[in-house]
Amino acid sequence: MSGELAELLRAMPKVELHLHLEGTLEPEMMLRMAARNHVSLPYRTAAEAARAYRFPNLQGFLDLYALGARCLVTEEDFYELAMAYFSRCREQNIVHAEVFFDPQGHLARGVAMGTLFAGIEAARDRIFREAGMTTELVLCFERDRPAANTVELLEEACLAGEIVGIGLDSAERGNPPGKFREVFGAAAALGLHRVAHAGEEGPPAYIWEALQVLQAERVDHGVRCTEDPALVAYLAERRIPLTVCPLSNVALGVFPSLEAHNLGQLFEAGLAVTVHSDDPAYFGGYLTENLVSVLAAQQMGIREAVALQRNGIDAAFCSAERKAGLHRQLSGFLESWGIPV
Ligand code: HPA
Ligand code: ZN
Repeated sequence: MSGELAELLRAMPKVELHLHLEGTLEPEMMLRMAARNHVSLPYRTAAEAARAYRFPNLQGFLDLYALGARCLVTEEDFYELAMAYFSRCREQNIVHAEVFFDPQGHLARGVAMGTLFAGIEAARDRIFREAGMTTELVLCFERDRPAANTVELLEEACLAGEIVGIGLDSAERGNPPGKFREVFGAAAALGLHRVAHAGEEGPPAYIWEALQVLQAERVDHGVRCTEDPALVAYLAERRIPLTVCPLSNVALGVFPSLEAHNLGQLFEAGLAVTVHSDDPAYFGGYLTENLVSVLAAQQMGIREAVALQRNGIDAAFCSAERKAGLHRQLSGFLESWGIPV
């Protein structure tokens, strides 16, 4: 890749739509929080933790992700975590981020819903005040937990804080989206947006189910759609966004390499693909690193980079007014770089 394209990708105003807040917990911060909260970890140094981050598959990752999340206990912890991520966003020119969080594990450890929201919302307010960066929160349900109390949990969350929508994450195989039909119906009735991880490790049938049973508006990952041509045609025709996370897919063995990824194929098939970072503290890079490395490996250039950003803005859950502002900002940026808009 030319240095100019890498610099363009860094400087371009970007949106992040697939980012797990707990997946931004860098080893140094994890160890610091573990010490102050008296949580034991199997690592003594950040280097030891980083060395342990080799994952045979999604479950291998989820086990370490849950282990790290145990270090988050107080309002201050959630504030620091979110603020560190938003500071990264400033460095990377991420101007709008829709952030997933997984409350079920925290609640099970005795963290109150209000504690979680208080910390995260203080960080959201501060980054908006200081940098004009907009953020939204998406409450994710972990699909390998029971669906039984999820509607109550959603109601509790809506009283405690502000969310823009709900999502579905964690171990996909053996946990089809339909299990969460009721809570997704409740979210729709509350006017909330809906998104679900599907077709990362699970089959194309799970993508169909996320769309048709859960009425998901976006699909997280969705890369296995190419195994079903009728599904690819359906996604293309309706421009249903797929939030693709290349470094995650390689780290979890969904693809053997960035060169072997199907991003270029999805793009050429006319799908509304966007690129994101998933769990950057675990997978070796934030949004700019994902874009730079996957575009180079897939031999994609400026035309595709711009289209990916436009797809991302169109796919966002923020207000129509904010989306129009993001499109204007991107167009102004491209003009200033002499790139035809
Ligand atoms: N997949 C599923 N669940 C997750 C992920 C992921 O990549 N990251 C955090 N929870
Ligand atoms: Zn994810």
